[in-house]
Amino acid sequence: MLLPYFILLPLALSLPAPTPPLQNTTQVIAGITVPSTPLITKALTYARANTDDPTYNHVIRTWLNVMASVSHLPTSITQDLDLEALTIAALLHDMGWSNNSALISRSTRFEVNGADVARAFLLREGGDAWDSHRIQLVWDAIALHSTSDIYPYKQGEVTFTGLGAAEDIMGPNATAQAYGSEKVGVTQEEWERFNAAYPRLGLKTYINGVFTWLCTNKPQTTFNNFVGDWGEESVEGYERERKGKREIDVIEQFAVQ
Ligand SMILES: *[C@@H]1O[C@H](CO)[C@@H](O)[C@H](O)[C@H]1NC(C)=O
Ligand SMILES: *[C@@H]1O[C@H](CO)[C@@H](O)[C@H](O)[C@H]1NC(C)=O
Ligand SMILES: *[C@@H]1O[C@H](CO)[C@@H](O)[C@H](O)[C@H]1NC(C)=O
Repeated sequence: MLLPYFILLPLALSLPAPTPPLQNTTQVIAGITVPSTPLITKALTYARANTDDPTYNHVIRTWLNVMASVSHLPTSITQDLDLEALTIAALLHDMGWSNNSALISRSTRFEVNGADVARAFLLREGGDAWDSHRIQLVWDAIALHSTSDIYPYKQGEVTFTGLGAAEDIMGPNATAQAYGSEKVGVTQEEWERFNAAYPRLGLKTYINGVFTWLCTNKPQTTFNNFVGDWGEESVEGYERERKGKREIDVIEQFAVQ
């Protein structure tokens, strides 16, 4: 027998509330609704304690760009996103630029360094909700965030992390032009609002300094990727070609016909 909803509804309302109580909420930052979980709060604290102001503001703005884009794009693109994983990836994506030397690895490029720091954070703080798949998703999002010819073809969490960083560095229009407009949803007006809330502090000059620092201080992690371009431009004695450090040099020396 079918009962009308006005009889069923009070029955449903009298059911006990689900337990444990939902810990997930949202908050509004610079006009953008972002997810808020206990782990996200810990990631914010961790990033703040271990990055300087330009990097911290950049990762916060990256997160805001991502969440603004997600809020404007069709649900067919955004509905399956793990927003907590996406948030952790955005917030920790530049831990390889940390001002805490204990977090800087000598042997890995800065993206892998950051991915490893994030994985250690999740293993330490994430608890049971963080299975190996979610941890790998964050690791991939961070490791690939600068590789714009791979991240668009990975899971949405990976793609949006890379695009968010690019959006913050270049603005939405240039990002859409360079990497495709399908997943760039943030508007120019929002982007400017993020800059007002979390000032850029000379981000362009700052980034040039970071890449130059990497080429000077851990050059072996830069020879075969884009960071090495800064070494060639501005580090005395960098000389990756003559040291045989490019992929072409390795193939030339070791590949078997
Ligand atoms: C990194 O810089 C931030 C901002 O200046 C500061 O709060 C933090 O203590 C620094 N961390 C380390 C490990 O030096
Ligand atoms: C909290 O939100 C995250 C991401 O949105 C989700 O993966 C997780 O299952 C949620 N946890 C609870 C207790 O609802
Ligand atoms: C960005 O692109 C939009 C749409 O093409 C255009 O209306 C706007 O003027 C552009 N903004 C900037 C800052 O280039």
